[in-house]
Amino acid sequence: MHCHCTATTMSTAVLAADDQLLVDSHDLDTTPLNDERDGVTHSQGKWPLDTLPCAWRSLDVQVSGAAAAVDMPRPRGIILSSRAPAREAFPRTVCVYQADVRRAALAALECCGATAGGASRDARLAYFKAKAAVDDAARSDEALAVLVARLQVGEAPRFVDLGAGTLSLLPTLARAAKAAGFETMDYVAVDRDRAALRAGLAKLEVEDAPWLQDADPLATRQFDKLVRGTCDIDGVQCTLSVVAGDALDADAFGAFDVVCGNAFADLIRPEILADRLRRLGKPGGTAYLPITFAGTTELEPRFAGSDELLRAYDEHLDEDQKQYTDVARLVQILERNECTILSRDSSDWRVPLDGPFAPYLKDFVGLGAVPRFFGGPKALDAVRWARALQKQRSGAFVVRNVDLVVGLPAEEIPETRGTRSHRRGDSLTQLLDLARTKSECDLADMLGAP
Ligand SMILES: C[S@@+](CC[C@H](N)C(=O)[O-])C[C@H]1O[C@@H](n2cnc3c(N)ncnc32)[C@H](O)[C@@H]1O
Repeated sequence: MHCHCTATTMSTAVLAADDQLLVDSHDLDTTPLNDERDGVTHSQGKWPLDTLPCAWRSLDVQVSGAAAAVDMPRPRGIILSSRAPAREAFPRTVCVYQADVRRAALAALECCGATAGGASRDARLAYFKAKAAVDDAARSDEALAVLVARLQVGEAPRFVDLGAGTLSLLPTLARAAKAAGFETMDYVAVDRDRAALRAGLAKLEVEDAPWLQDADPLATRQFDKLVRGTCDIDGVQCTLSVVAGDALDADAFGAFDVVCGNAFADLIRPEILADRLRRLGKPGGTAYLPITFAGTTELEPRFAGSDELLRAYDEHLDEDQKQYTDVARLVQILERNECTILSRDSSDWRVPLDGPFAPYLKDFVGLGAVPRFFGGPKALDAVRWARALQKQRSGAFVVRNVDLVVGLPAEEIPETRGTRSHRRGDSLTQLLDLARTKSECDLADMLGAP
């Protein structure tokens, strides 16, 4: 029997007396498991299990068919395993999803849930739905008024929605087009997440669609890459295209009056974002970047330790998740790229702790912040803070966001080989097999009738 134990005096503090985490060896990438810092490879990289502020051991559980045999006196503890028969052999269990032992361990410590917002497709879509309501309440009216004023001086607008997810920004854009006096608009949604786009499409009643009524437009071969149709959004006739691919390569679809991205700008390095906005937008066009995370998460009311926990979470987003949350720097880089900031207004999320979106944020904080304390003197405190956060039902998270409306420069961006594409291998051009010889492409022509 392969068994590896680390016992620390801390274990009793976060788990019941003589408890430990039992990790099914089947779920461990055990190379090397007897190194100085034993680690487990999980979905977010290598995580040293031996920094856990409690005892753990790897356990061989023999599973044959639907039954499991444990080749030892059954140890006391919480078993973490992806295998149902292995879990059935123990009274207290946490399921390991998607090889994420780190999450399972943190869930066993009650710092987060056992499943993520992104662990399953349905869970991810439920996350998008809960988030959309929070976004809608948060978006800045001032920024929207500036967007409407920009639209008023042009033709029926052509929008591209970068990282469109479930198309949650579409109703806001349609209302802006209507407020600017238009009855029609063109909207291209691009995201890598096919399931999110599909869910967004399912919410709409798309007419004139070149796919059969019951068909899945993003799954069929012919419309796998792009679908078009029209739909009525709040009285605005919208011509809609949906593309599963890299949003930053959407210039394959020509130039846009408004380049949008809801909760997107902080995911992209500002230098690349500035370049792409100019490349995707028409000269003199507009960029609308609502719900751009500004780097700070707060709790009302605070409790002892909550500030420290949330600072660690914000650092996790910056340093581990590589988000770009310095809005002042983004603005500076946009201005350096001859863009004009037309509006910069706050759009803070207010997320009630008893509401449908709070469990996601609690989960993100527990999962992202707590391990940053492991191996240090505050590891146990961090576990306690995260547990306290999980239990708190009254109050709210306040997440600092900014809505930006940006005027794009009137001059076309000079074409150089170096600025052509940020990642050639991931480009829409390749995805769509389009010969990108023209900067403006008429997709209807290219794809032809169904
Ligand atoms: C925070 S979510 C926002 C989704 C949606 N705009 C909303 O607010 O609900 C970010 C989205 O951007 C997508 N994304 C990130 N980088 C992308 C890229 N380079 N190309 C396409 N999609 C991307 C992700 O798949 C995800 O759906």
